Amino acid sequence: MVHTRQMRSRTRSHVWFERAQQSLVEGVNSPSRGSAVYAGGPIVLERGKGSRVWDIDGNEYIDFMMSFSALIQGHAHPALVLLKFEGHYHGWYDPFLLNAHTHPPERLGSIENPARIPDSEGIPSSIFDDVVLAPWNDADALERVLSQHGHELAAVITEPIMANMGCILPRDGYLQRMRDLTRDCGALLILDEVVTGFRYAPGGCQEYYGVEPDISTFGKALGAGFPVGAVAGPRSILERMRWSEKMVLHYGTFNGHRLTMKVVATNLDLLSAQNAYGKLHAVGNAAIAGLREVFRKRQVKAIVQGFGPMFQIYFTERDAIHDYRDYCKFVDTKLYARFVQKLLECGIYMTPSNGLHWIISTVHTSADVQALVEAADQACSGLS
Ligand SMILES: Cc1ncc(COP(=O)(O)O)c(C=O)c1O
Repeated sequence: MVHTRQMRSRTRSHVWFERAQQSLVEGVNSPSRGSAVYAGGPIVLERGKGSRVWDIDGNEYIDFMMSFSALIQGHAHPALVLLKFEGHYHGWYDPFLLNAHTHPPERLGSIENPARIPDSEGIPSSIFDDVVLAPWNDADALERVLSQHGHELAAVITEPIMANMGCILPRDGYLQRMRDLTRDCGALLILDEVVTGFRYAPGGCQEYYGVEPDISTFGKALGAGFPVGAVAGPRSILERMRWSEKMVLHYGTFNGHRLTMKVVATNLDLLSAQNAYGKLHAVGNAAIAGLREVFRKRQVKAIVQGFGPMFQIYFTERDAIHDYRDYCKFVDTKLYARFVQKLLECGIYMTPSNGLHWIISTVHTSADVQALVEAADQACSGLS
């Protein structure tokens, strides 16, 4: 039975259409969508779900147009949805570009129903209909979200260590539990190792923590300064890129670029050299220990979180920062920026953004660590 809906005015649609006519021929990008067809001007749709769409005035419609039949599965079909976590950044691919920047705690919504906050202008809100957002580092919360949405998810994507809110480590067993839960509900697990890959172990964090994702992504350290990205996974999944009627496309002008591939091969040879990772961990751990000692001695309320090649300093009263909400609520990022400005004056180059992290490379030495620790000691004086 069809219910008659109480329709609101289409004022906003009219305003947007007026605006569009100043820039586009007929105010649309196909004459079949313009006022020749829609007397009084087209309706500006904002989002869709299943068979329904909503316009920007809030009117709901049952869609029988379905993007000229392109939407054979309706709008935002659950099997085409992905889950991502609060505070994680996976590049500026529209559907994942939400809740990766800090915001005042009162804007975040509840843990059960996090507010969805786009990280960029220009992303239609309908894009996020395809994404379920969950808090990170809380296995029980993940289990609850998956019990509700697991059957609709294509994949769960996570950074193994949160590297875009400083350096936030997974709680013991969290990644393993995520692996089990995603397997149980039939969603793929995508491990975003763009930041962590090749830094903790030759096999990245997945080797270090002993988790086996379905798909992993790599960038940054793989290219040792050259522009490269890689997607890895078992043959059963990557075979879907083989040319066929139902393939997943991966065209790209610079795919497999020869010079870059040569650099990657050399980089991996260097990293395979004896004890490269032992050294990365030892130098990083020495820096962490040195900084902790400085803050203890100077009685500055700061923690140094992380281990080996990645760590971050948080000026906080807390013992640890476990997730996005902790970071937004409890970290004094302005004090950190002032501290880093002082370090810059002492010849230590680092970004004042607390959201990034300290990076140890194979060329850092114990003398560099010593210089950092001395500069940190100096920077602590007059810091309040
Ligand atoms: C965890 C993570 N994933 C993906 C990306 C995107 O990488 P790119 O900037 O090379 O596209 C970044 C970039 O910083 C990142 O931190």
